[in-house]
Amino acid sequence: MDFTLSEEQLMIKQAAKDFAQTELLPGVIERDETQTFPNDLVQKMGQLGFLGMMVNEKYGGSGLDTLSYVLAMEELSKVDASASVMVSVNNSLVCWGLETYGTEAQKEKYLTRLASGEIIGAFCLSEPEAGSDATSQKTTAIDKGDHYILNGTKNWITNGNRAEVYLVIAQTHVEKGHHGINALIVEKGMEGFVIGPKENKLGIRGSDTHSLIFNDVKVPKENRIGEDGFGFKFAMKTLAGGRIGIAAQALGIAAGAYELALQYSKQRKAFGTEIANHQAIAFKLADMHTKIQAARHLVYQSACDKDAKKDYTLSGAMAKLYASDVAMETAVESVQIHGGNGFVKDYHVERLMRDAKITQIYEGTSEIQKIVISRSILKD
Ligand code: CAA
Repeated sequence: MDFTLSEEQLMIKQAAKDFAQTELLPGVIERDETQTFPNDLVQKMGQLGFLGMMVNEKYGGSGLDTLSYVLAMEELSKVDASASVMVSVNNSLVCWGLETYGTEAQKEKYLTRLASGEIIGAFCLSEPEAGSDATSQKTTAIDKGDHYILNGTKNWITNGNRAEVYLVIAQTHVEKGHHGINALIVEKGMEGFVIGPKENKLGIRGSDTHSLIFNDVKVPKENRIGEDGFGFKFAMKTLAGGRIGIAAQALGIAAGAYELALQYSKQRKAFGTEIANHQAIAFKLADMHTKIQAARHLVYQSACDKDAKKDYTLSGAMAKLYASDVAMETAVESVQIHGGNGFVKDYHVERLMRDAKITQIYEGTSEIQKIVISRSILKD
């Protein structure tokens, strides 16, 4: 497979790199500590087109391909995975879901503002008792004719408080199991919709993660995405693409940790020479570089599959599974190469190590990716 990048793709990669270095890097340690992410940075990401990268220009997006999106995700994630998860959720889950399955009215009302970054969206599937087992939704959306009454709790929702628009997965016809699930567009401020407490997390601490509580929230029927009962398929199809974005995030964390280790090992001296000259370190760098390049190929492959309109469920799951393991492994090794310096915040790698862990958990744990992969290869 030839992954030669076009001039436009190289420009996007460079733009993301410049933005990460000039705008994200300066405050990243403080944002991690204070668990904040300022609105002006979100606005800048919107102005640069990072929040609606793949959305058609007629809906206010940048009209780019998936490969351009993963290139940008990698560069942003090298520096700040809290910023890139926001980009990933808004692009892959919210905008893509609405553009692909929404009505024209829904696109006009919501997608245009989401793609330009004027507002941010959230994707709400996980529940206290339904994380990996996504068919066991306890949140209910009872059909009341021209509207639904929504009740329940969602957990670990990225952009939980910052978002204005929420795609909420809920059970309408319990007796139909996953065929009775719907996806509803819920707006912040709807009566009975309460934002729960913010999570105090191990990693991606700058991102805004909350539980959400719905108490008899009246959602108009025109806010349902797709046909009655399409909600679970909607979630699965949307997550299949979301996994490509998170794979790119994992790749970026790995590449960021590797680049810092490479730089450090060429400067830091021990036993009379730069530590890169010791085989113990050089071999670690060789392993990191090789695995990152292998992960990059899987990530690019899945993006190209999506752009070529091929099935990308398998390639996306493989990319996420492998890239997230490489992110974790590389970040741990980078801390090791940095020695004592790796254990303190100023050198960034301890944060990358903490951030790497979530890539093995969200948008389907590594075990879920193995279910998706094994089912796919066994059905042939
Ligand atoms: N595309 C289309 N349809 C799909 C699909 C896909 N990729 N995957 C499954 N389906 C369909 C199946 O065809 C089936 O439909 P039919 O009954 O009509 O044939 C239906 O969905 C149910 O499929 P399964 O029988 O395979 O369901 P399952 O209960 O065995 O579970 C699973 C499948 C893959 C494990 C799924 O539950 C899953 O992906 N779980 C993980 C959920 C997840 O990723 N959560 C992350 C939360 S979002 C998040 O993290 C965002 C954030 O904030 C960062």
